[in-house]
Amino acid sequence: MNITKTLIFFCLLGVLNTAFSQQRDIPKKVDALLKKMTLAEKIGQLNQYNGDWEATGPVTPDVGNKLDAIKRGEVGSVLNIVGVKHTRVFQEAAMQSRLKIPLLFGQDVIHGYSVTFPIPLAEAASWDVQAIEKSARIAATEAAAGGVHWTFAPMVDIARDPRWGRVMEGAGEDPYLGSLIATARVKGFQGKGLGSLDAVMACAKHFAAYGAATGGRDYNSVDMSLRTLWEIYLPPFKAALDAGAATFMNSFNDLNGIPASGNRYLQRDILKGKWGFKGFVVSDWGSIGEMINHGYVKDNYEAAEAAINAGSDMDMESRSYIKNLAKLVADKKVSVAVIDEAVRRILTKKYEMGLFDDAYRFSDAEREKQAINTREHVEAARDIARKSIVLLKNEHQLLPLSRDLNSIAVIGPLAKLKKEMKGFWALNIGDEKEIVSLYEGMQNQGGKTKLLYAKGCEITDTSRAGFNEAYKTAMQADVVVMAMGERFDMTGEAKSRSDIHLPGVQEELIKAIMSTGKPVVVLLMAGRPMVFNWTADHVPAILYTWWLGNQAGNAITDVLYGSYNPGAKLPITFPRTEGQIPIYYNHFNTGRPARNDNDVNYTSAYIDLPNSPKYAFGHGLSYTNFTYSNLRFSKKSMLKNGSITVSFDLQNTGKYPGEEVAQFYLRDLVSQPVRPVKELKGFQKLMLQPGETKTITFTIDKEKLAFYNDKLERITQPGEFRLMIGSASDDIRLQDNFVLAD
Ligand code: NOJ
Repeated sequence: MNITKTLIFFCLLGVLNTAFSQQRDIPKKVDALLKKMTLAEKIGQLNQYNGDWEATGPVTPDVGNKLDAIKRGEVGSVLNIVGVKHTRVFQEAAMQSRLKIPLLFGQDVIHGYSVTFPIPLAEAASWDVQAIEKSARIAATEAAAGGVHWTFAPMVDIARDPRWGRVMEGAGEDPYLGSLIATARVKGFQGKGLGSLDAVMACAKHFAAYGAATGGRDYNSVDMSLRTLWEIYLPPFKAALDAGAATFMNSFNDLNGIPASGNRYLQRDILKGKWGFKGFVVSDWGSIGEMINHGYVKDNYEAAEAAINAGSDMDMESRSYIKNLAKLVADKKVSVAVIDEAVRRILTKKYEMGLFDDAYRFSDAEREKQAINTREHVEAARDIARKSIVLLKNEHQLLPLSRDLNSIAVIGPLAKLKKEMKGFWALNIGDEKEIVSLYEGMQNQGGKTKLLYAKGCEITDTSRAGFNEAYKTAMQADVVVMAMGERFDMTGEAKSRSDIHLPGVQEELIKAIMSTGKPVVVLLMAGRPMVFNWTADHVPAILYTWWLGNQAGNAITDVLYGSYNPGAKLPITFPRTEGQIPIYYNHFNTGRPARNDNDVNYTSAYIDLPNSPKYAFGHGLSYTNFTYSNLRFSKKSMLKNGSITVSFDLQNTGKYPGEEVAQFYLRDLVSQPVRPVKELKGFQKLMLQPGETKTITFTIDKEKLAFYNDKLERITQPGEFRLMIGSASDDIRLQDNFVLAD
């Protein structure tokens, strides 16, 4: 080592050491600060107010001037303020408080900050965890540059009910896929770790079981067995925690009669107890006060008592803590130790974020200008948008479209819309000009093909006045591309629907256009699985494009023309109709399983509807074909602590290069308690050139065979298992049994 290298080495060591000792000293610093704090100042740290930007829930009567409250040390965090200039005003107020404890700025950065990415459910359809991590990384980079410290994401709620409006915000129905995506998102948001200038704190939400709202109605009660909770709903939260999620948010629902905000079992026993979570828990908006409506407590005083004792550290907007905790301490209903513990958790994060070193470190106007809307971010948004598009159907290889067409008719209420492309939970940052509508995307790549346009109908309106013009327009074209779907605010928080059919008269318009005899491609833009049976049965080519964000139009056009070959797979089951809901692939077999869709003879079936979904979990086509062959096992029997490797060959037998998500499912054939007919245990997404073959290997070990018994112990049971490899949960190409020996 020469002298310069040695010097650099020691300098680096020095920097690392200082960073390390700074982190190591945090507990001491927190203790020292706690000693200086009055009870009122401690309670202030547990209080979070909405800023003055945008309310995302009912606002309780105001507390007067919030900046004054901040100066008095009554506020620990503010949500819904963004931008360096704006957040600085609030931080300056905090710096005028007695102890100058910096504020944390929280924001729902759900799928992008300024550059909007596809909605989370769409990204989940990519089954591409690297791309998902990158999307979160970019969102964090932009948000942190815009003064945000903390995103209320990822939402890791499992959802088996597409009526539930918030299905758009999660990763779908599967705990395995959901856990991988939860990990990717937390890693993306937190980057190199809290304290980096481009990292924001992640928040795994909503703890817990919020996605199982009865009837799919938002905020509704959840009644479920603890085994289902542990098996299906908790794994993505555990994954988020293991990935280092700095915070958790509890949920609006009650779980088996106990509202999440007052739920000790969830917050103290599981999260902070068994799992050893070191971060803090924020309530959901007003959820502490809402325990009164639940009928769990009689007033805000009791609500604050129940919530803090159950482990809710920060009160978002219910104001129960700020108004009642001091009296609760005086009345000996809440101990100072409980308050100290919550404050300690919050202060620790503020230290880890580096805010005590410099409260304005996220307030750099120059960085804000540089870091937002970069070309790289826009390109990444286009890339993940393409990866999220699911090819549901492609008869006679109608897609991809030829670039030699004379004309294409672009028809439908969503064809020229821009804001809709962003979807729900998008921030109002950035210019509408940056959003690419479908029509613009097609214009950008139009070449010599003439584009014709007719709206045909509105999204929800029932007028058919535009049908005629749309019909005539279609008649003049070689091919018709129809942009149909939901308005952006028809899926999201408080946007549950009992009827999830394609809205308005849109399916009638599709019928009218199909009657022209022209080749028709339907694009379905929505935040949830919709019901569209006539379209599914009659239209030759269907792409489910969800809401894809700023680059929607470009990404869809890439897929239409085949410059990108779609490879996405549904992360959630698409029902034939609402009557099948809840519907999910990993169900039990029952004592009277139907042998097929027509088997209604005293079997577990509907007499008026097949059991199978319209599109199954994991479904998604490509412009090319894949063949699965040559399944082989390293051995057919394993011991509890052993493993088996399974390999097979995947070949691209079609004409286009393309990506396949090869899925690996298991079934425990005899078990007490019973196990699902199929459970996703692994997958690989890989690109193959035409004619190319690759070998894929999965390993089966104890963890893949384990499950929770009725005592909630994670166990394995010896016996026979079935391994299934396929292109979708209902398209199994290879299968065989193996044994877990005694
Ligand atoms: C209520 C939502 O349930 C939650 O997800 C969100 O983070 C908060 N409002 C803040 O906007």
